[in-house]
Amino acid sequence: MTSQFSKKAEAWSARFSEPVSDLVKRYTASVFFDKRLASFDIQGSLAHAEMLAFKEIINAQDHADIVRGMAQISAEIDSGKFEWLLDLEDVHLNIEKRLTELVGDAGKRLHTGRSRNDQVATDIRLYVRSSIDIILDLLNGFRSALVDLAEQHSATIMPGFTHMQVAQPITFGHHILAYVEMFGRDAERMADCRKRVNRLPLGAAALAGTTFPIDRLRVAKTLGFDDVCHNSLDAVSDRDFAIEFCAAAALIMTHVSRMSEELVIWMSPRIGFIDIADRFCTGSSIMPQKKNPDVPELARGKTGRVNGHLIALLTLMKGQPLAYNKDNQEDKEPLFDTVDTITDTLRIFADMAGGITVKPEAMRAAALQGYATATDLADYLVKKGLPFRDAHEAVALAVRTCVDRGCDLSDMHLEDLQKFSPLVADDVFDVLTLEGSVAARNHIGGTAPEQVRLAIARVRQSLS
Ligand code: ARG
Repeated sequence: MTSQFSKKAEAWSARFSEPVSDLVKRYTASVFFDKRLASFDIQGSLAHAEMLAFKEIINAQDHADIVRGMAQISAEIDSGKFEWLLDLEDVHLNIEKRLTELVGDAGKRLHTGRSRNDQVATDIRLYVRSSIDIILDLLNGFRSALVDLAEQHSATIMPGFTHMQVAQPITFGHHILAYVEMFGRDAERMADCRKRVNRLPLGAAALAGTTFPIDRLRVAKTLGFDDVCHNSLDAVSDRDFAIEFCAAAALIMTHVSRMSEELVIWMSPRIGFIDIADRFCTGSSIMPQKKNPDVPELARGKTGRVNGHLIALLTLMKGQPLAYNKDNQEDKEPLFDTVDTITDTLRIFADMAGGITVKPEAMRAAALQGYATATDLADYLVKKGLPFRDAHEAVALAVRTCVDRGCDLSDMHLEDLQKFSPLVADDVFDVLTLEGSVAARNHIGGTAPEQVRLAIARVRQSLS
């Protein structure tokens, strides 16, 4: 470490007879990553100081000095002039020390009635809350870009797959709306998680509360928390809210990853259902013909790190006795990286959704292979009175004949089809077409273009 970090200043050093080694100092310090919490730390400190002044635990002059000092510190941090010191361990002690340099004893009084334990828990909750608000906006933006894409293709036919085998014709709009649903639930999960994030730990002090006549509800109100944490031990020790956030984030990335997998498959020249705008792809350094879907591939890969952060936090929490333990300092990097990965991914995907070119002819040609309308033929026979199981068998035999002849069901002559069931009449060809097949699935949640348009209207309503 450079000499910049050599200033001697541990806030707790009076009790110690020997200094920690440089290695231990670096090992135990968090300032190089938790300085990212600075604005939340200052926000929390200002709310705490206001309450201390209101309750006359500090005087009005001290409060004014703290407010002035914090304004200068914010400006220094914003302009990159603030000197972060490793010796001062973390964001909290760095800011407090600077405050004391700037305003003297008022700075030393700020920590009355609180501890870094409730302070850091408050900072993280403020950070997670603001991250959730950003993510909710990004999810909305992404969903609305997907809805626009779905709307352009509410009637574009593609094969729907199960087991990666052609199953039944669907509309591309319907397929995209499946993701709109997933990301909608992701938003609900984030919003629900926010309720549990939005409680104030401050006032728990180190673990047992404080002897000063504090007003926690006042601080909660100032900081926009819905309530206070009701148990001081729980307030400083649990990070379940961060774990829950990471779980919701892992699900977002899991959904992104599934979509990415499909985009990669669809863009493969062997399939050729879509093209992705050049700005989301890269070439190969050796193969001049290549255009690779790097963005979806990377998003699929980054899902691993976000899922990993969830496991990291669960493992961090597991086995910790009450109350605060230094283990919890390790909550930050996984959390920060989760937020960075999710926000970057959602921003890029919202933009990329508008850069997808659909190739309806390729989708249609693929839907014509694989007997996608076989279920429609079975349903047709059922509507003519045949029990479903018998209809299923009759159609299976017809498909087998088609496979032998190398033709589609719709290529068969009426008389040929009638050999499998005498109920077949010449109206059968209506149900064997792709358009007839999708249009017939005309109920809430079905793939009919009419339903896709209704679903789009529903989502748009919820987004506005
Ligand atoms: N940097 C610490 C953290 O992130 C702040 C709390 C330190 N508390 C303590 N008792 N050492 O958790």
